Amino acid sequence: MTPTGHPTRHLARTSPRHPDVVPVPAPVPVIELRGAGKAYPGGVHALREVNLIVEEGELLAVVGPSGSGKSTMLHIMGTLDKPTTGTVRIAGYDVSALSDSRLSALRARHIGFVFQHFHLAAGRDAVDNVADGLLYTGVPLRQRRARAREALARVRLDHRGSHTPNELSGGEKQRVAIARALVGTPRLLLADEPTGALDTASGAIVMELLRELHASGTTVCVITHDNEIADALPRRVRFKDGAIVSDTRSGSRSDGPAGAGVDAAAEEAGP
Ligand SMILES: Nc1ncnc2c1ncn2[C@@H]1O[C@H](COP(=O)(O)OP(=O)(O)O)[C@@H](O)[C@H]1O
Ligand SMILES: [Mg+2]
Repeated sequence: MTPTGHPTRHLARTSPRHPDVVPVPAPVPVIELRGAGKAYPGGVHALREVNLIVEEGELLAVVGPSGSGKSTMLHIMGTLDKPTTGTVRIAGYDVSALSDSRLSALRARHIGFVFQHFHLAAGRDAVDNVADGLLYTGVPLRQRRARAREALARVRLDHRGSHTPNELSGGEKQRVAIARALVGTPRLLLADEPTGALDTASGAIVMELLRELHASGTTVCVITHDNEIADALPRRVRFKDGAIVSDTRSGSRSDGPAGAGVDAAAEEAGP
């Protein structure tokens, strides 16, 4: 997968804003859904005409009740599945135009996943589980393991590297899964109900780690049915019956309180 020539995260985030400097071109959105729909055989419309733009560096929640289409959204945003209507661009790439092997490369290079039930390999220790996050990147094994140890240190589990999943608590398993997701330095991290199987204290640690990851420059999308978790994040995209019903942002710096959302969906939700 070759880069498209859009500005890198580093350049986009550090470009000066002086009027006498040549303007930097607008960065390509990390996620761009236009009229994206997903119908399953049997007539279930899990997603209906979803329009969503997520810019580099955002931290957002996709929130809604069970069955509202959130996991379907995660699969579409993560290129694990293709929409049946509309277009999806991830990091500027049109997902429908890519072969399965190119999609795998896109995922390996740009996207990290965290799931409710961790999806760790049983019988493999934490280092190897995290190193697996680099399997499709061509990094040699020794280096994969070294980077896995660094990633475990970032989730403060360096002392648990040789433990297998059955020797770890739920919260620790999810931290291993986060380390696996971040070891490849993805620009986008997608988390589907990351605290859904955890007690409150472990869930809070997981959310704190996701915030740290966001603070280091990663775009983070947390999918949740939990309003409390969503309300603590700066942008909330609310789903009902497969459609976006509101898209709100909390005020930050000079932004006004909720309502800075710029999508069609935000306008639809009205003042
Ligand atoms: N593979 C599938 N085949 C048929 N229907 C599905 C499939 N996956 C999800 N659905 C249906 O799509 C709707 C949205 O599901 P989902 O995206 O899992 O919602 P959520 O994650 O918000 O609970 C539900 O009605 C669900 O039953
Ligand atoms: Mg779900």
